[in-house]
Amino acid sequence: MSAIPETFRAYVAEKPDDADPVRFERGVREVHAADLPPGEVEIQVAWSSVNYKDGLATRIDGKVARINPLIPGIDLAGVVIASEDLSIPVGRSVVAHGYDLGVSRHGGYTEFQRVPAGWIVPLAPGLSPRDAMSIGTAGFTAAMSVVALEDRGLSPDDGPVLVTGASGGVGGTAIAILAERGYEVWAATGKPDEAGRLVALGAAGVLTRDEVTAEGRPLDGERWAGAIDAVGGATLPYVLRTLKTGAAVAASGNAGGVKLETTVFPFILRGVALLGMDSVTMPIERRRRLWDRLATDLRPRDLGLHATEVTLETLDSALDGILEGAARGRWIVRVEG
Ligand SMILES: NC(=O)c1ccc[n+]([C@@H]2O[C@H](COP(=O)([O-])OP(=O)(O)OC[C@H]3O[C@@H](n4cnc5c(N)ncnc54)[C@H](OP(=O)(O)O)[C@@H]3O)[C@@H](O)[C@H]2O)c1
Repeated sequence: MSAIPETFRAYVAEKPDDADPVRFERGVREVHAADLPPGEVEIQVAWSSVNYKDGLATRIDGKVARINPLIPGIDLAGVVIASEDLSIPVGRSVVAHGYDLGVSRHGGYTEFQRVPAGWIVPLAPGLSPRDAMSIGTAGFTAAMSVVALEDRGLSPDDGPVLVTGASGGVGGTAIAILAERGYEVWAATGKPDEAGRLVALGAAGVLTRDEVTAEGRPLDGERWAGAIDAVGGATLPYVLRTLKTGAAVAASGNAGGVKLETTVFPFILRGVALLGMDSVTMPIERRRRLWDRLATDLRPRDLGLHATEVTLETLDSALDGILEGAARGRWIVRVEG
């Protein structure tokens, strides 16, 4: 039997009838339990967060939303209120993100949600639902990137590691994880006034966006032992041509553009590797192990301190801001009253 009340609040994006609108109609509505998709686990959502993809999901030209109307929110954290799976009991704090959430199935911007048991990550002791959404999909992708580089052999003794898009969710969390693990981490940002915060977070030095997007030779001086890039565009070619011999970049995003114009020289003359990161489809067992590590040895420095809280009612500005590149840390969504 369902533990979800008949009606509750959710933030809904819906395509209006006009011929060529740019943006969905968005806002808080009363929705019905029957509007939610099926799933073995019912969750009272406490927190969600704002990721780049969520911004896209509320714009028609974002080409992310696959159902109409859509409750966006690609991640959520809260407490189980009903469960058909004995391993995920009522009262357990859990997180869910990725797969179809907030894209082709209603997501996290709602007081209640149903989720398949196979998508649920029980939260380790030491991570609250607020902590989990301060990390969110962006921070999870940062952790995934750190692990990918370390699995390939990277260690703090190898030299400086570059993080681009440093003021944003993936970038900021990557800095906070790397600094805590003893790396000399450098931040590239387009926001000069963020430098102080990034240094406080653990950055040893800051590069300007101009420096990492300038045209360059096919190969520049070998500088970075590794890199984490969620920007793409003109930034990723800079990273590739300045990586040390044998080094790798973990690439997850396109905040700076989708086109990649580079040469093959970093790959064939320096053995550099481009590691693609896809957090959406990561199988659940790996996902649960990585979340356990986010509670322990991958726990980001100052977890939760660099998060700005919004509510379902004040979400709009964060969804627009993230697409404008205005992120300063993470926006988290307080759903519980
Ligand atoms: N592959 C995956 O599984 C996965 C998971 C999560 C996120 N992502 C992707 O990763 C990217 C970042 O996500 P996020 O949630 O961290 O977004 P975010 O918080 O908005 O961070 C992106 C950062 O990129 C920088 N940036 C923005 N516009 C730029 C431009 N035109 N040129 C250069 N830099 C620019 C800005 O940092 P500065 O101002 O400091 O430079 C911005 O804060 C997005 O493309 C997202 O879709 C992918």
